[in-house]
Amino acid sequence: SDLQDFITGLPKAELHLHIEGTLEPELKFALAQRNGIELEHSSAEEVRASYDFDSLSSFLTVYYDSMRVLVTADDFYDLATAYLTKAASQHVRYAEIFFDPQAHTSRGVPFETVIGGLRRALVDARRDLGIHAELIMCFLRDFTAEHAMSTLMESLPYRDWILGVGLDSDERGNPPAKFAAVFARARQEGYLLTMHCDIDQEGTHEHIRQVIEDIRVDRIDHGSNAFERPELVAAIKERGLGLTCCPISNGWVVDGVKETEIVGLLEQGVKVTLNSDDPAYFGGYVAENYVRLAEVAGLGREQLVLLARNSFDIAWLSGREREQYL
Ligand code: ADE
Ligand code: ZN
Repeated sequence: SDLQDFITGLPKAELHLHIEGTLEPELKFALAQRNGIELEHSSAEEVRASYDFDSLSSFLTVYYDSMRVLVTADDFYDLATAYLTKAASQHVRYAEIFFDPQAHTSRGVPFETVIGGLRRALVDARRDLGIHAELIMCFLRDFTAEHAMSTLMESLPYRDWILGVGLDSDERGNPPAKFAAVFARARQEGYLLTMHCDIDQEGTHEHIRQVIEDIRVDRIDHGSNAFERPELVAAIKERGLGLTCCPISNGWVVDGVKETEIVGLLEQGVKVTLNSDDPAYFGGYVAENYVRLAEVAGLGREQLVLLARNSFDIAWLSGREREQYL
């Protein structure tokens, strides 16, 4: 359609994308075969048909289990190359990519293997596809703060390959404050900071308050529940914090696309962006996320352009590179 073509053609940045969440069933089968790993399903179609998430935890179980097929640096290279090829085809010019090292080191895959494969894919894609991408290391919030701290230390030899740190996985019972010391140390090491804030109801506003006031993040992943609290919206605007929202993901793991919150915040001048989160599981890359929100909220071209512009505006790019996109 005209809308789809317009959205695909817009130069965009993608700022909330878990590389492990881009593992399409076809690649999962190919990697399983290469590594001699047995899968419970017998075809990519069967895997896809089995996806029926109704909560974050039901998604996370499948997401972590699938990672068994990621073993060698080449596996991580192929995973990231597939994503970057798809993103470039949708006119993503710049991507900040989350990776979950603890989900791999905890099953015996060395940190170096993970980051080595990913980094090589980013370098090659910049040369071959003209897409610039950087890495953000996420800590798993359902692991201990000590485990996060030792992962932070493990990352320091690769400091130049990592823009910042994030916090993902199961938010319930794992507030931002649990990781205050880890994030303070990360900032000292020169990392930029972001955290997921996306829990349903209970605790969500307190988590958003903590990331703004106590952790003092540079960005918030999701964060659209702030819409319900004028004082949180005011703090987000005052600090110029961007939000990385994920409409299609919301449709699976929280209560609906959250178009009222996302568009409401955009209209109040918050720097909202649209992103795909875990596209292989939720069934939509970044362009499909723009299309979904445009359809459910009746967005016009002006708002779509603003969303795309915000994505470069809040990206962790140097001044010179940002200018080139704005
Ligand atoms: N890790 C990967 N995808 C995630 C999501 N949508 N929420 C929290 N943690 C995640
Ligand atoms: Zn996410």
